Amino acid sequence: MKSSTVHVPAPQAGSAGAASASRRAFLQKIGLASLLTGLAGFGLQSLRSLIPNVLYESPQKFKIGLPSLLADGVTFLEGRRLYVVKEGKSFHAISGACTHLGCTVKYTKLQQPKQVDINGEKKQITAEFHCPCHGSKFYDDGTNYAGPAPTPLHWYKLSVAPDDGQLIVDLGDEVERNFRLTV
Ligand code: FES
Repeated sequence: MKSSTVHVPAPQAGSAGAASASRRAFLQKIGLASLLTGLAGFGLQSLRSLIPNVLYESPQKFKIGLPSLLADGVTFLEGRRLYVVKEGKSFHAISGACTHLGCTVKYTKLQQPKQVDINGEKKQITAEFHCPCHGSKFYDDGTNYAGPAPTPLHWYKLSVAPDDGQLIVDLGDEVERNFRLTV
């Protein structure tokens, strides 16, 4: 009977060592890559934390909505202490802060229309602004005529935002009392 011999190749010490070394190098590369990724992420987060989470837009300038959505007449924006007046297609904005010591003036409808003289111009008004603190009174255009308020109420510039058509008020830009924005 013939016996057969199977030759199993003897493990080659040299090639096994090389495989193990390349596996080690590969694992080291992966380790290094994840370490670098982690460090990069951490670095980015640290940098981001140095930048305050705010909009660099002047807080003096803000949008108040679409002109078509504003009610005709006078709208009081309480948080801004601002009266926005809409007369058809014309808009203007008057400060609600009394020019004496800064109390908020109240828009007050008159019992009956009143003839007034504002800078030599006769005008009929139906409302005024009254200050509850020390009694200053202003005509409907903000002209002071009674009480300790030394100057008229401030008027601020209105414009239309080019991106969405909303009205923009700029409290940093005071305008004359004949200013009107027509939309
Ligand atoms: S704060 Fe308005 S009258 Fe004094």
